[in-house]
Amino acid sequence: MLLIPAAGSGTRLAAGVPKAFVPLAGRSLLAHAVEGAVRSGVIDAIVIAAPSSLVEDARRIAETAAEAPAGSADDADDPDGSGAHSVPVSGSAPVSGSASVPISVVVGGADRVVSVAAALAVVPEADLVLVHDAARCLTPASVYHRVVAALAEGAAAVVPVLPMTDTVKTATDAGTVVGDLDRTALRRVQTPQGFVRDVLVAAHDLQRTDPDASATDDAGLVERLDIAVVGVPGDEAALKITHPIDLRIAELYVTGDLD
Ligand code: C5P
Repeated sequence: MLLIPAAGSGTRLAAGVPKAFVPLAGRSLLAHAVEGAVRSGVIDAIVIAAPSSLVEDARRIAETAAEAPAGSADDADDPDGSGAHSVPVSGSAPVSGSASVPISVVVGGADRVVSVAAALAVVPEADLVLVHDAARCLTPASVYHRVVAALAEGAAAVVPVLPMTDTVKTATDAGTVVGDLDRTALRRVQTPQGFVRDVLVAAHDLQRTDPDASATDDAGLVERLDIAVVGVPGDEAALKITHPIDLRIAELYVTGDLD
């Protein structure tokens, strides 16, 4: 089961349409995201949170993308050696790139947490839930496989991570630098993030009852339950499309000019 929050406005991308509906090499980010998820072979159902005015568009886009043929260059690539291709998120047989992946669409909310909660509320039966971002629409299958493999090994919460390459400092609102952070202890966090469903539900329940418990990702909510979050290697191709430059880089990935 995969949740895809796709209800963001895309203000920073300034493309004139909500971000998930912005074209990338002729197809929307949402279409790329759904196709990538289906091609991973470990997703058996998808719930999308879309802007209220675009629910039907999201359904049409996603159903078309879910029919994309199975297989991709990345499918043959299993750099983690996990062999996790055969571990479905639901516990049922893996699906591979067919219309058999059912798509549901709900209306998203004011922020990402609310959009994920809306999608989570309609998840029927699933022991494990992955939460993605439509904005990370080029996430390779290998990242899905690593997340699912860690769940299969008993983790309750899993995030794909990459090392921090920049030097990172803290600063005041006025811009004065006040401290340095140890780069070696920092990670850039990507999606899909994987969870035991009950853990994710408990995390969102806490968020609803405790306004201070907000976070910018689902793992952040789970951490407040004092549940260990396991990191697995992410991938630069799973970049989050936020600014116009990200869209340009993503185009290079799609056309094969960047690996
Ligand atoms: O805004 P940001 O890039 O952090 O959004 C991350 C993901 O969350 C995107 O896929 C976006 O569509 C989604 N989102 C959402 N509902 C919101 C805000 C963001 O589904 N209200």
